[in-house]
Amino acid sequence: MRVLITGGAGFIGSQVADAHIARGDEVVVVDSLASGRREYVPAGARFYEMDIRDVGLREVFARERPQLVSHHAAQASVSASVRDPAWDADVNVLGTIRVAALAAEYGAEHLIFASTGGALYGEPARLPADESTPILPLSPYGCAKACAERYLDLFGRLGGLRACSLRYANVYGPRQDPHGEAGVVAIFARALLDGRQATIHGDGEQTRDFVFVDDVVRANLLAAERRAQGAFNIGTGVGTSVNAIYRTLARLTGSTAAPRHGPPRAGDVRHITLAADAAAAALGWRPAASLDDGLAATVAWFARRQR
Ligand SMILES: NC(=O)c1ccc[n+]([C@@H]2O[C@H](COP(=O)([O-])OP(=O)(O)OC[C@H]3O[C@@H](n4cnc5c(N)ncnc54)[C@H](O)[C@@H]3O)[C@@H](O)[C@H]2O)c1
Repeated sequence: MRVLITGGAGFIGSQVADAHIARGDEVVVVDSLASGRREYVPAGARFYEMDIRDVGLREVFARERPQLVSHHAAQASVSASVRDPAWDADVNVLGTIRVAALAAEYGAEHLIFASTGGALYGEPARLPADESTPILPLSPYGCAKACAERYLDLFGRLGGLRACSLRYANVYGPRQDPHGEAGVVAIFARALLDGRQATIHGDGEQTRDFVFVDDVVRANLLAAERRAQGAFNIGTGVGTSVNAIYRTLARLTGSTAAPRHGPPRAGDVRHITLAADAAAAALGWRPAASLDDGLAATVAWFARRQR
């Protein structure tokens, strides 16, 4: 299969790219390197350093004619979306529309969209949230992902584009950027390994559903193999507080440093966990990594790297 992966130099997209290469697929990566790294693009992939909003993207689709488009390129920070909602929407709404329109025009059989479950439902009355939970995002980022999902649905109904939105919980693991604003596990792990103090936004009792990147990659492969359609939560259903994550990472890194507490961040939800029964039924997907094992693997990876 020929797969075009946008954002394939990023944390999740590059590992989805690795998995497709390992399965024998032909992989094309489009990434602006806004936050991704060239070294993460697998050696066997063809790489286009390009913004998804660039007019040149048409030429890439015309030349490569992908059967599957895996759309992972995004402005992925909730805080950045609060600061600049128009820019967030430009990348995450208009960018997704461009990618999906070209996928449809050039005959892609399937599109997989990296959506969010963590920022889509706001503060649901019942947790874990399933896909029937009202979509009431609390950030421009969540709103943009919800809007992009609606366009995929529209293109499916009007033009026959077969699309699947994977609504990720809080993904963590190797290659996550420890210097960005999103990705508390990477940020804490790097700081603790470097002997620096880490900052917890708010009291740290906010809970998140932490899902290991290997499980997210497997969800992508299953969705591709089954040419899944619709929206699926990809999470564990288990909530873990940011304080608990800090304590585990401090133990794993041997750090005794106390965290600093800063103000809570605008746009962040207080509690979210995702029910992934629909993914279990339709994709045969269930998370496999325990939080302890996933965090240990992540710390081991960051410990081998200098930055
Ligand atoms: N990490 C999470 O917990 C999480 C949760 C839910 C959804 N997601 C989604 O998963 C996807 C991947 O996120 P990630 O955590 O790997 O982040 P990331 O920042 O590592 O990856 C995003 C990639 O997209 C590229 N990119 C950004 N803007 C671009 C543009 N305009 N044109 C082309 N490339 C561009 C970046 O260079 C980067 O390689 C994103 O769509 C994100 O919204 C991530």
